[in-house]
Amino acid sequence: MRVELHFHLLPGVDDGPTSVQESIELATLALADGTGTVVCTPHVRDVDVLSVPARVEELRAQLRTAGVPLQLEIGAEVAQDDVAGMSDAALEIAAHGPPGRRWILLEAPLSLDPAGLFDAVAEVRARGYAVLIGHPERCPSLMTGQGGRGLDELAAAGAPLLQVNGSSLTGRHGEQARRWALELARAGRVAVIASDAHRPSRGPVLSAAVAALTSAGFAPETVELMVAETPCSLLREGIPLFA
Ligand SMILES: [Fe+2]
Repeated sequence: MRVELHFHLLPGVDDGPTSVQESIELATLALADGTGTVVCTPHVRDVDVLSVPARVEELRAQLRTAGVPLQLEIGAEVAQDDVAGMSDAALEIAAHGPPGRRWILLEAPLSLDPAGLFDAVAEVRARGYAVLIGHPERCPSLMTGQGGRGLDELAAAGAPLLQVNGSSLTGRHGEQARRWALELARAGRVAVIASDAHRPSRGPVLSAAVAALTSAGFAPETVELMVAETPCSLLREGIPLFA
């Protein structure tokens, strides 16, 4: 089954679902989208990360009661400005993978200036974690390499793995983001596609993203890797800090 590495499913913590009912609805949509596991990734700025494990456990129980057999994992979406203020315990809760290969979901900023992203990558790595960059296609200066701070420089700084939003591939974030997402896929630079779902009206789109890529000429088995095998292996096997 598919695995979502970037998904706002916890109720009432960030700009995701506002109620348990909405979370259950969103979880049901994820299952219908072919997903078996969702990593709960609330924005760090909106939640006490130390409370995330208990919140996930509570939602697991609520899904069980509602008869929704979706597996949940603990995580968080870290922004560049969050890193310095996160304790070691918070970073550890946000991280995935086995010891020695743990990694953090670090989002590319939607703003024009990604300079802080490079500092954040450096700090996360210095604290012992590899990085998966969330939605780079939504960061224009990163995509255009403005000021010598593009994806090549980011890869050279130790963050080559990219998670593209399915919602970019479906055009939700505009034509430019859609084109960049497609460009990254064509260049073989997309490790993972995730929905970055927030609520039932901005729900899971892995099937739609797979359809968008296959209709653009990608082989279905290549695309399925990005929504199933690869995210699954990142959770189980992690990312080496030094490739
Ligand atoms: Fe997100």
